Amino acid sequence: MRKLLIAGNWKMNGGAEFTSDLLSAIKNQKPTISEEVDVLVCPTFVSLSMAIDQLHESDILVGAQNVHEAEKGAYTGEISASMLVEAGCSYVLVGHSERRAYYHEDDALVHKKIQTALAHELSPVVCVGELLAERKEGRHFEVVKTQTLAAFEGLSDEQVVQIVVAYEPVWAIGTGETASPEQAQEMHAFIRSILAEQFGDVAQAIRLLYGGSMKPANAQELLSRADVDGGLIGGASLDAESFVSIIEIAESLSTKTIEPNPSSTSEV
Ligand code: PGA
Repeated sequence: MRKLLIAGNWKMNGGAEFTSDLLSAIKNQKPTISEEVDVLVCPTFVSLSMAIDQLHESDILVGAQNVHEAEKGAYTGEISASMLVEAGCSYVLVGHSERRAYYHEDDALVHKKIQTALAHELSPVVCVGELLAERKEGRHFEVVKTQTLAAFEGLSDEQVVQIVVAYEPVWAIGTGETASPEQAQEMHAFIRSILAEQFGDVAQAIRLLYGGSMKPANAQELLSRADVDGGLIGGASLDAESFVSIIEIAESLSTKTIEPNPSSTSEV
């Protein structure tokens, strides 16, 4: 069984006051968070400690949005994995398309960050996804395959099960445009087939999230697909009501039974 994961990526929104207000609003809605669903919020670095304190007795997990690949040292402005663990983070986003595009993070750097996170028992949420032009050119499978293989290169079975993959087609991020449930499932099944070629049955335990304008209105359709194991949610996670609605939808769908999926064998 794969536990669904509903993760909020707050991006560069909100300092301490915003974080406190949003978390209070989420808690006030008393979302049901069962053993079957993981819920994660990823606020800004400066709000992490406050979020961890505020969520101390709740079932909501806290993650960071980025990590440096080195252990420590002269890297002005950067944050290390051990700092995140000390603060109380259990997850970290790695290779978000905004970081790939604006901060030139390439596949090799993303891979190093994954290794560093894993060495500190931080679960990486690795983002992959194609640009609009790449989809139009029919290169989306090839692009996602390259990103996925680079991210997982040389890792052990014990390591790969700690990793969550978020498929985020760049054209769907923050645009209001969402991949159709069919497009999402097709790509998720493809990613799982690539992982199965590398890691065999272990691939069945790896959670694959969809990200890109997920909201209450489309969450049910996306999350009910066989290989969509949760969501990485930007805009809609900044609104307590929307975020809690998505959590409730995930709860209603509960765990996914792992069944051999005929479409998981699709190839480029
Ligand atoms: P969005 O962002 O939900 O606002 O499209 C998703 C993401 O970038 O992780």
